[in-house]
Amino acid sequence: MIGIFDSGSGGMSVYRELVKVLPLEKYVYFADNAHCPYGEKTVQYIRERARSITDFLLGKGCDIIVVACNTATAAAIRTLRKEYPSVPFIGMEPAVKPAALGTRTGVIGVLATAGTLNGLKYLETRGLYEDEVRIEEHVGEGFVELVESGDLSGPRAGEVVERSVRPLLDAGADTIVLGCTHYPFLRETIEAVAGPGVRVIDPAPAVAQHTLSVMESRNLVRSDGFSIELISSGDPSSLERIFKIVSEE
Ligand code: DGL
Repeated sequence: MIGIFDSGSGGMSVYRELVKVLPLEKYVYFADNAHCPYGEKTVQYIRERARSITDFLLGKGCDIIVVACNTATAAAIRTLRKEYPSVPFIGMEPAVKPAALGTRTGVIGVLATAGTLNGLKYLETRGLYEDEVRIEEHVGEGFVELVESGDLSGPRAGEVVERSVRPLLDAGADTIVLGCTHYPFLRETIEAVAGPGVRVIDPAPAVAQHTLSVMESRNLVRSDGFSIELISSGDPSSLERIFKIVSEE
């Protein structure tokens, strides 16, 4: 059984790719709405949440956990791997590599939370590419709130998105990496602001492929019938709304 968690419904952008490559598995999705957003919380706080959600998912019978949240990956995945050595954890990584390889202007933009941008993992990845390309970063200010409230398009969403995307475009970015799992739900709005010359990269398909290969190598693929249980620590309405969108795609 595959356990997935995020601060809210953002991890659904990873779930929708997982279900494409692993359509006959059982899933449990935990949205930590009572503690959302994670973006500005301390590392200690997020680690504590990650531990207690992991315990919950293991108690449900999950044998692999997808940390479908860049911020929680940055804060907690090393700790989780150390404290639960027999459990495979799959984390998120901003797709800096494909962006760096594909840019024509030599400038890439990364949109993520403050927690992700300040995390060691991101800083290490950045260090590998910053000699070759210019990397401009911006927090997607208000993006998580837009997604949680179901405000994915229209003038208000456009204005909020514009404020964080415009500085990347002004810096010459022709590629924008979505470094937070909530942001793919704003993809159309981001693309409308950025225009046709800008490539937007969502790492979720690569994360799903990686999950599949880890599950194959550990003999965890069951293919005995799809099911999903949705759990929220707070108000479940946002999760239900996003799940509906994802299921109808
Ligand atoms: N979806 C999350 C991420 O990928 C968390 C966003 C938040 O809660 O601030 O970073």
